[in-house]
Amino acid sequence: MPYPDIRPRRLRRNAAVRRLVAETRVMPSDLVVPMFVKEGLTEPRPVASMPGVVQHSRESLRKAAVEAVQAGVGGIMLFGVPERRDATGSGGIAPDGILNLAIRDVVSEVGDATVVMSDLCLDEFTSHGHCGLLTPGGEVDNDATLAAYAEMAVAQAAAGVGVVGPSGMMDGQVGVVRRALDAAGHQDVAVLAYAVKYASAFFGPFRDAVESALDGDRRTYQQDPANLRESLREVALDVAEGADMVMVKPALPYLDVVAAVRAAVDVPVAAYQVSGEYAMVEAAAANGWVDRERVMLETLTSIRRAGAQIILTYWAVEAAGLLREGY
Ligand code: PBG
Repeated sequence: MPYPDIRPRRLRRNAAVRRLVAETRVMPSDLVVPMFVKEGLTEPRPVASMPGVVQHSRESLRKAAVEAVQAGVGGIMLFGVPERRDATGSGGIAPDGILNLAIRDVVSEVGDATVVMSDLCLDEFTSHGHCGLLTPGGEVDNDATLAAYAEMAVAQAAAGVGVVGPSGMMDGQVGVVRRALDAAGHQDVAVLAYAVKYASAFFGPFRDAVESALDGDRRTYQQDPANLRESLREVALDVAEGADMVMVKPALPYLDVVAAVRAAVDVPVAAYQVSGEYAMVEAAAANGWVDRERVMLETLTSIRRAGAQIILTYWAVEAAGLLREGY
């Protein structure tokens, strides 16, 4: 009797057979690229802790959006960095606030060749750096914040955004945003809920990218990394409140959560490969310790395999290029 009679290696013999039996594929259209635009810049400015990522000027953002479309990415997620901040984050709501201007710029440049999305949160716009309004005692005031999110959503929709991404982890945020959009005649604007967002140290470099002033942490509203069942509860609430898509964030340290969310709901599931995940790989690769492109694509494949059909990643445009070449 020949032994072994079952040989899984037959299906790994060469690239052609491996490609034929691959269970997971990442397509450029699965990827969404986050982009930062800073008010008052005339030239793009590098983000030190995120090599390859910049704060765009309005002009360079337009060009980058066109390049992203040419690369075939599925979407662009916009973040604004204002010149001035105040206690209520008014720059996030003003029609001529930097994020709303950027939405108009990008939509006029790319139309619906890709999905234009916007972060719906106050932390980039508040002087204290929290995602919401504060009570006189300094607590994050859930319900006052909801009213601000409702206004912000309508302002973003009026600027032409296709998808808003409420990311502040306030209770009831999806429902209040959905109702405000509908009441203002924006029934067609979709909600990508950051349903599961952990109080993560992996957001570190993002603070650099948006020059956040946060002193303290977000543990009274973002979730405890120890919890999984709580995530399923958050997702169920967001779907019930009208979320069209739900997101888990960060991605790689939370693949069990991605898989559980995928199994629990029928709406599209996204995962956000956040700034710290990106920075770790870039730093290791810069030292010659890992193969940058292989690690990049391995992480994206893993996130996809866990069940995310949409991946937000700072590598989106480059990865789309590699994937098209059949890397
Ligand atoms: C909130 C927001 C954050 C990120 C995306 N949206 C920061 C936070 O909640 O602390 C982090 C993204 C990243 O780290 O890449 N506006």
